[in-house]
Amino acid sequence: MHYAYAMSVALSIREQHPPRSINRVPLTRAFGLAMAVLLGPPGTLADGTHRVGLADDRNGYESESYATRSEAILEHMGTRLPLADIANTPQAGLPALEARLQAAEVDLGRILFFDRRLSANANLSCGMCHVPEQGFTQNELATPVGDEGRGGRRNAPSLYNVAFQSSLFWDGREASLEAQVWSPLLARNEMANPSREAVIQRLRLIPEYNSAFAALYGEGLTDQTLGQALAAYQRALISGNSVFDRWFFATPKSGQSEPEFSPEAELGFEVFMAQGCQGCHAINPRSAMFTDGAFHNTGTGYLRVQRGLRPPSVQVAPGVFVVPKVDVETETFNDDGRAEVSGDIEDQWRYRTPSLRNVALTAPYMHDGSLATLEDVVNFYVRGGGGDAGQDPRIRPLALTQAQQSALVAFLESLTADNVDALVADARSARIGDTLRHDYRPHSPQPES
Ligand code: HEC
Ligand code: HEC
Repeated sequence: MHYAYAMSVALSIREQHPPRSINRVPLTRAFGLAMAVLLGPPGTLADGTHRVGLADDRNGYESESYATRSEAILEHMGTRLPLADIANTPQAGLPALEARLQAAEVDLGRILFFDRRLSANANLSCGMCHVPEQGFTQNELATPVGDEGRGGRRNAPSLYNVAFQSSLFWDGREASLEAQVWSPLLARNEMANPSREAVIQRLRLIPEYNSAFAALYGEGLTDQTLGQALAAYQRALISGNSVFDRWFFATPKSGQSEPEFSPEAELGFEVFMAQGCQGCHAINPRSAMFTDGAFHNTGTGYLRVQRGLRPPSVQVAPGVFVVPKVDVETETFNDDGRAEVSGDIEDQWRYRTPSLRNVALTAPYMHDGSLATLEDVVNFYVRGGGGDAGQDPRIRPLALTQAQQSALVAFLESLTADNVDALVADARSARIGDTLRHDYRPHSPQPES
């Protein structure tokens, strides 16, 4: 059993290199400032490039003369998978779903997820902040921009394996996916709908939705069933069976030319265990979610305050840069993390431990998207986190050689599932925005002229 093996390796490494005694002395403010300068403004990807799938490569996007090829996306209509069946079958490294998914519900949820008419201005779908080609998050923006250029405080989490999250959002303020959808639907800086009723009434104007919901649910289209359908699709984004899983959980290979768990990734896993990363990014002998579902302070909140809360300008269209407006929900870009939910000052700057599955696809990192690459994240930990006096004592400077740091990155890269491309293709079997047509009228009718 690889687990026992890995544990023994981890323990023997620990004996050879005992972890440094915990640094209880708060690191200085100067260190925090130096880190802030090194990290640069959130949202800047280190190599300056964009990784955008399908139609647009975005080279030269800063210029007004950039011409989009977005219509080419229609040439890339993807192949629909029997997603419910796939999700109902356990994958290496993951637990089984609590309840079986129904295909029809998943299919309806998929259409809704990519339908821009769910937003007040019909300009923003869920899938535009949770972009399939970008790990079901956004690689381009540290923190997304919603309705009318209003910015948010936080990075969009990836939705892979969201079915297994014990709480939702970086601060864990929501428990169920069914209820969660109303947060983006109603947030003024996201989809900006004035009320639940407004959303439901608008969608009821679309006959195809009316009949699809009536066929599935006795009560038809309601705020509950809308949440149910969207939740079903998101639950189906199960994505395990990575190179690491096949090695660690010793699952037989399904094909000839599959990549192997490399010696470098194996070294990285040993470092991961020896340095206590798994204390929060938890794994167990049967499954590995790489999160404990709990909230911890790694010093990122402290760093964010040092850097200044207001994000720099972001680019929303060729040649168009905006400084996001303040988040009108909170009237500030301040972010206290879990403390906002618990009311407990101890919880200031604690955020839910993110899963590390598919982490190579989900840059930029941390609750504020402040770290651009996995190398940056490893560097952050090697330096001892953000240097906040109140940060978790397990976050302390690490003595790792360059080779060990690279190995850690190689290990993190081995956590990419074997079905990510298939899930992207499946997502693109729903056409963005106008899948169901045509009777849509915007929420606020234009004044008659
Ligand atoms: C404007 C961008 C944007 C849009 C549009 C958007 N989201 Fe999100 N989503 C985010 C951000 C940012 C967060 C994290 C917010 C937080 O933690 O406070 C998030 C968090 C989530 C989470 C929690 C994931 C986790 O691991 O905790 C789920 C689930 C989710 N969104 C689903 C949806 C659905 C469904 C829709 C459409 C109804 C949607 N999102 C629309 C940006 C967006
Ligand atoms: C005390 C708990 C804890 C320990 C120990 C810990 N982490 Fe984390 N990790 C977190 C939390 C919490 C975050 C999110 C912080 C934030 O959003 O500001 C995080 C974020 C990350 C991320 C970014 C993921 C994403 O999607 O944004 C990576 C990668 C990561 N950790 C890897 C590691 C590695 C490698 C180690 C060991 C060197 C480690 N972590 C040790 C709690 C921990």
